Formats: sequence, C-alpha cells, structure tokens
Amino acid sequence: MKNKIVIIGAGGQGRVCADIARLMGYAEILFLDDSAANAAGKINDYPRYLQDADFFVAIGNGSVRRRLQTMLEENGASIATLIHPNATVAQDVLIGQGTAVMAGAVINPGASVGRGNIINTCASVDHDCRVGDYLHIAVGARICGTVCLEDDSWIGAGAVVIQNLSVCAGCMIGAGAVVVRSITEKGTYLGVPAKKAK
Ligand SMILES: CC(C)(COP(=O)(O)OP(=O)(O)OC[C@H]1O[C@@H](n2cnc3c(N)ncnc32)[C@H](O)[C@@H]1OP(=O)(O)O)[C@@H](O)C(=O)NCCC(=O)NCCS
Repeated sequence: MKNKIVIIGAGGQGRVCADIARLMGYAEILFLDDSAANAAGKINDYPRYLQDADFFVAIGNGSVRRRLQTMLEENGASIATLIHPNATVAQDVLIGQGTAVMAGAVINPGASVGRGNIINTCASVDHDCRVGDYLHIAVGARICGTVCLEDDSWIGAGAVVIQNLSVCAGCMIGAGAVVVRSITEKGTYLGVPAKKAK
C-alpha cells in the first residue's frame, strides 16, 4: 500500500471510497474525474501518478468500471482493494483488486469475491459464495450460502438470492427481489419470487 491513492470518479461512490481509503490509512487522496469540480484533474491525467500512487475506480456503471480498471492495469497501475474497517470479512475470504467492501458488509468463510466489485453498505455474501468480477451487490442485498454470481450483474438494494443458486452474467436483479431459482438467461428480474421483466 502506497501513501497516496488516486480515485477515478468523484461522485457519491468516489466519496464513499475516499472515506474508506482515509480510514485504511492513505495519507493523500485525490480524485480524477472528467467533470467534477473537486477533482485534481481529468481521467487521462492518470499517468502522472503511476509511480507513487495506488488507484481505485469508483464508478457505479460496471462496464465503465471494467474498462477503466483494465486500462489502468494494462498501464502498470497498482490497483487497491478497499475494505471498510467496520466490514466483517472472514479470514479465508479471497477478494480481488479493485473491489470495495463498504461499512457493515459481511463476507463469510469460504467465499471468494473477484475484481472490481462493489459490495455495498450492509450487503452480505454468505459462506462459500463465488462472486465474479465487476458486479454491484447493492445496499442491504443478501446473498445466501453457496451462491454463484457471474460477472457484470447488479443485485439491487435489499434483494435476496437464496442458497445454492447461480445467477448468470449480465443480470439486473431489481431492488427487493427474491431470487428462488437459478437464473440462466441474462435480463432484468423483479419481484417476489423474482421473474424476468418483459
Ligand atoms: C429494476 C430497475 C433497474 C428498473 O428500472 P427502470 O428500467 O427504470 O424501470 P421503471 O422505473 O421504468 O419501472 C418499470 C416498471 O417496473 C416496476 N419496477 C421497477 N423496479 C422494480 C422493482 N425493483 N421491483 C418490482 N417492480 C419494479 C415499476 O413499478 C414499473 O412498473 P409499471 O410499468 O407497472 O408502472 C430499478 O427499478 C431497480 O430496482 N434498480 C435497482 C436500484 C438499486 O438497487 N439501487 C441501489 C443503489 S446502492
């Protein structure tokens, strides 16, 4: 961990990530953003920080997050993993670079969480889950034990995925939905029990 971190994206997500970075002990935190007034520069200014800073992409849109993190990695950036000190992460959990675990989140033993994910405030990922890359598990969502979530999905606020299921890549699970069957077809799923939206 370096002393300085550059956060790409100065919006709400960026400010939450900056607060976690501060709590983790980063002494200098700056934003790069193409439109925000509180940014130190534009995203394309990133090369000037490659030597002495870690980087973190704090952008809600998963495909943009994937594109920017990949660009940074290909150019040799050191990508941070941000874990709030009040998140509960079991000792054996594997978490990939570029993932943020927000306050109150719980990740239980045997789980693995890939790269570039947002495990948002008070979300839980239970034992032995497999979470792919560039997902957003939104505030208060609950992923029960031994669930497999493939890449690029969004699990909405307060949604539940019950145990032993899988959700294929690229799904949007609406806020408050309860997934009770595995999802094998990309799409938007809403309601209790969750059904594919027309
Ligand atoms: C599912 C979702 C993406 C749909 O958004 P959208 O495409 O803009 O859809 P709309 O708001 O136009 O709603 C379309 C219809 O779906 C219904 N709907 C929307 N979200 C729903 C949800 N979560 N559960 C059940 N029904 C929902 C609307 O009531 C509307 O129904 P109607 O046509 O009978 O009036 C969105 O509502 C959602 O749940 N997003 C998750 C947000 C979230 O978790 N944020 C967390 C940030 S940390």
